[in-house]
Amino acid sequence: MSPTLFLFSVLLGSTMAAAQAPPLRPGFYMDTCPQAELIVRDVIKNAMARETRSVASVMRLQFHDCLVNGCDGSLLLDDSPNMVGEKEALSNIDSLRSYQVIDEIKEALESSCPGVVSCADIVIMAARDAVVLSGGPNWQVRLGRLDSLTASQEASNDIMPSPRANATALIQLFTRFNLSTKDLVALSGSHSIGKARCFSIVFRLYNQSGSGRADPAIEPGFREKLDKLCPLGGDESVTGDLDATPERFDNQYFKDLTNGRGFLNSDQTLFTYPTTKDYVKTFSQSQKEFFKAFVEGMIKMGDLQSSQPGEIRRNCRVVNSQPVEVFLDA
Ligand code: HEM
Ligand SMILES: *[C@@H]1O[C@H](CO)[C@@H](O)[C@H](O)[C@H]1NC(C)=O
Ligand SMILES: *[C@@H]1O[C@H](CO)[C@@H](O)[C@H](O)[C@H]1NC(C)=O
Ligand SMILES: *[C@@H]1O[C@H](CO)[C@@H](O)[C@H](O)[C@H]1NC(C)=O
Repeated sequence: MSPTLFLFSVLLGSTMAAAQAPPLRPGFYMDTCPQAELIVRDVIKNAMARETRSVASVMRLQFHDCLVNGCDGSLLLDDSPNMVGEKEALSNIDSLRSYQVIDEIKEALESSCPGVVSCADIVIMAARDAVVLSGGPNWQVRLGRLDSLTASQEASNDIMPSPRANATALIQLFTRFNLSTKDLVALSGSHSIGKARCFSIVFRLYNQSGSGRADPAIEPGFREKLDKLCPLGGDESVTGDLDATPERFDNQYFKDLTNGRGFLNSDQTLFTYPTTKDYVKTFSQSQKEFFKAFVEGMIKMGDLQSSQPGEIRRNCRVVNSQPVEVFLDA
């Protein structure tokens, strides 16, 4: 190693953010940014007042961030000349939204406590707040994540599930992340809020499993409604509600599944398969059981950690520029 390169890495190691994350814990910012959680809640409240759906969109970001190399804000990185990010991965492009709400939170936090709160933690706090403000359960979030230095579109394409998936495939996927069948059913209950595109269901309306017919699990009255919303050859960017009460976080989603009124195939399949059906029934009968299992699932999913070193990004869309020249000039 040349002397210059050596200096380089010492400076990188000692003064820059690239580091291994500390263990996660509640109240992580109590000393360094005591008002962090209040600031996040406030921005989410305002975003919700502007557009109710935005909180569902923000909550979904946790799922798409955490499954791909852990909860490390990798999802939030824009493409750069030397990196293809995750925003344009198959499940994300033209689908994930409200990234600007995360930007707004980051700006508010940077002006109060510069360089302290990670984007990865913002996603976790924002998802919790989205649930609370929609009428769902409240819980303490564990914090202390670092933001990734990179992202992987390939990994996202490989991991994130299709709305066509059946329960067997979904159980398998969740098992890879140490998430149980119960976690899968409870976390799918996040579809208690928000919307999806016709793009995500036309196959099950008109050609389920290549049959040339609709998914027989769809209740006929509901199918008529979906056919009208999403006609064959129509505009697939049109959206429909994921359950009958899309602005309230409640157990209506599970009641809908028991009546053949699930929107996505990946939703309805949970009532078709015996291994997941009992959980659907339980949650449809007890909102309390659902809320409890949902919170457990969100915490477990939030505990998925990156194996890579990270930093506290200044802007959630780009990695911090490495101020190496500054040190060498000094
Ligand atoms: C179990 C596997 C899952 C599949 C296959 C799945 C798939 C989807 C699809 C296809 C959409 C609509 C996308 C579109 O049409 O543009 C969607 C929306 C949504 N997903 Fe999932 N999802 C799953 C699990 C989850 C989990 C675990 C969460 C969060 C904890 C979540 C939260 C959401 C939310 C809140 C929306 C609505 C977003 C909005 O209105 O912008 N999903 N999901
Ligand atoms: C479920 O999906 C997987 C993966 O797409 C497929 O291999 C399997 O045959 C499906 N199972 C059933 C019972 O349809
Ligand atoms: C799942 O749990 C096992 C055993 O505790 C652990 O070795 C593995 O890293 C975990 N996998 C993930 C993706 O967290
Ligand atoms: C339905 O799906 C099958 C198998 O994927 C395909 O061969 C067939 O062309 C599709 N039919 C229509 C009308 O899209």
